[in-house]
Amino acid sequence: MKKASYVCSNCGHQTAKWMGQCSECGEWNTFIETLPVVESKKGSKKPIDLHTLAGEDELKEQRVSSGLSEVDRVLGESVKDKGGSGFVKGSVLLVSGDPGIGKSTLLLQVCLNLAANVSGGVVYVSAEESVSQVRMRARRLIGDSVKSNLSLVYSYDVDEIIATLKESNAKYVVLDSIQTVQTESVRGFPGGISQVKNSASKLVNFAKSNGISMFIVGHINKEGNVAGPKILEHLVDGVFQIEGDKQTGLRIIRALKNRFGATNEVGLLRMGENGLEDVLNPSDYFLTNQSLPGVCKCPVLEGNRIVIVEVQALISPTVYSLPKRVAEGISVSRLQLIAAIVQKYIKINLSDKDIYINVAGGLKVADRSLDLAVACAIVSSYKNISIDKHMVAFGEIALTGNISKSLLFEKRKKESKRLGYNKLFDASSIKHIKNITSSL
Ligand code: TYD
Ligand code: MG
Repeated sequence: MKKASYVCSNCGHQTAKWMGQCSECGEWNTFIETLPVVESKKGSKKPIDLHTLAGEDELKEQRVSSGLSEVDRVLGESVKDKGGSGFVKGSVLLVSGDPGIGKSTLLLQVCLNLAANVSGGVVYVSAEESVSQVRMRARRLIGDSVKSNLSLVYSYDVDEIIATLKESNAKYVVLDSIQTVQTESVRGFPGGISQVKNSASKLVNFAKSNGISMFIVGHINKEGNVAGPKILEHLVDGVFQIEGDKQTGLRIIRALKNRFGATNEVGLLRMGENGLEDVLNPSDYFLTNQSLPGVCKCPVLEGNRIVIVEVQALISPTVYSLPKRVAEGISVSRLQLIAAIVQKYIKINLSDKDIYINVAGGLKVADRSLDLAVACAIVSSYKNISIDKHMVAFGEIALTGNISKSLLFEKRKKESKRLGYNKLFDASSIKHIKNITSSL
């Protein structure tokens, strides 16, 4: 009998012996025993057909819309632009995100939309919620007009699920979630590495060999990765992550991997009373439209588009011995750096002041162009002077205080002007941070 091997549940690294610490990712106590997959007898395989490169393309880029344009934008666009945007028919996609972020809601909405608009059965397989719970959610989403060619199934047994799907005429399937299903062919608990790995590969093989489009829900572990990340990621055609701020209802969907589209697109959605809806004019959503002290706007790059966001700063005297630096929407270390640069070159004393920074709307911004807007908001709050509501500031600040031109500089300028921001504050109008006070 073949010996068992050990797999790291964090990164998927395999070894013959158990190890306390993974030599690949450095995590402790992550090795789990897996049994070898039973191999078929030697010589029992028949050769299969070889195809020429010039042959007919099976995946003829037939795109199917998810029903939400922001989601379609992330799923990808047809290269020839004939098929529109959406997911490619027959692809298997993983949808991940924190619990409660809206994975089940989104995929049920997709199912309801497919059931109403495409031919071929749509099956929502839940291994987490009972059929009546899913039904109740569907009612919340579209009222009583639930379509009949959407079938609901509750099961956590992968082999049973596959047998059920074989019987049905399902062409579109949602499986919610990969961590709660199990197969009898391997040992281990649901959610464990061997169960996730084997269940996923059975489901993916089944979907691929039957031309089924499948969405698989995957939960995120505490490091922010899909549990068993490497194992799932290479099995599927795309990995889509839903992020967001539970308070504001804003949800962002982005592609971490996409065989049929770009990975730098993001879709903006809002969780409302009746499920997720597209945020069609994101700039409106993030702005307060007032000239106030401590408020500065900035055109940031989100995916391939420019979104105007608002940075709010509050500077107040420190009560304790150590000044506080609190940041929402940008990293605290970036704020500390900008505060240090402002203190040095603008000669205002921030060492006895608390600084609070917030990016309105719950957006998390990694774009360095926000630096200048953060600096302006800090100075504006400190001096209690309002920044014109038609002004936008953008540019990365170097440690020397120099302001550099942002990526896609012209595009940012054009988009800002289009949206009515006629006062631009950027690397072409201001070269060094020490000049900002005179221009505010
Ligand atoms: P859910 O889709 O269950 O999250 P996940 O599957 O990722 O764990 O999302 C549930 C949350 O969304 C829950 O807090 C309720 C909220 N919600 C709405 O605000 N509006 C709605 O129409 C629905 C269906 C859910
Ligand atoms: Mg769920």
